[in-house]
Amino acid sequence: MKIVIANDHAGVELKKELKDYMEGLGYEVINIGTDSTESCHYPEFGKKAAEMVASHVVDLGVLICGTGVGISLAANKVKGIRCGVCSETTTARLIRQHNNANMIAFGARIVGPELAKDIVKSFLDAEFEGGGRHQQRIDMISAIENEQ
Ligand code: RB5
Repeated sequence: MKIVIANDHAGVELKKELKDYMEGLGYEVINIGTDSTESCHYPEFGKKAAEMVASHVVDLGVLICGTGVGISLAANKVKGIRCGVCSETTTARLIRQHNNANMIAFGARIVGPELAKDIVKSFLDAEFEGGGRHQQRIDMISAIENEQ
């Protein structure tokens, strides 16, 4: 499984830790930056990663900024993206099982590296429960996108 990882200047250190961790779990991780701690604009990185997920160049995406919110907002503007910000493992599992999330976002200023590893593992280990009410609700989200 291929995973894109992207971040702004706030997420450089956590990105390195999560990339190594996911590679250790056997995932192929594509880092699209930034690798610099100089101030940059998180929407550029969120959009680029989201487009790779939406076009199925990769299977899933991991995003990091200071809070996780800004970069997730940018990613969620790309059609077909369902990205959730997670600071604990239960939400990370449920956004896969119920929302079929294809991206997860972290706040590097909110969660430490060990917790972030547990969170990303919960996300990656979980599977969409499929069908029924969950699919119906995802279809409703897609319908909102198509109305814009
Ligand atoms: C950058 O200082 C910070 O605003 C950004 O990383 C993020 O937290 C925005 O949501």
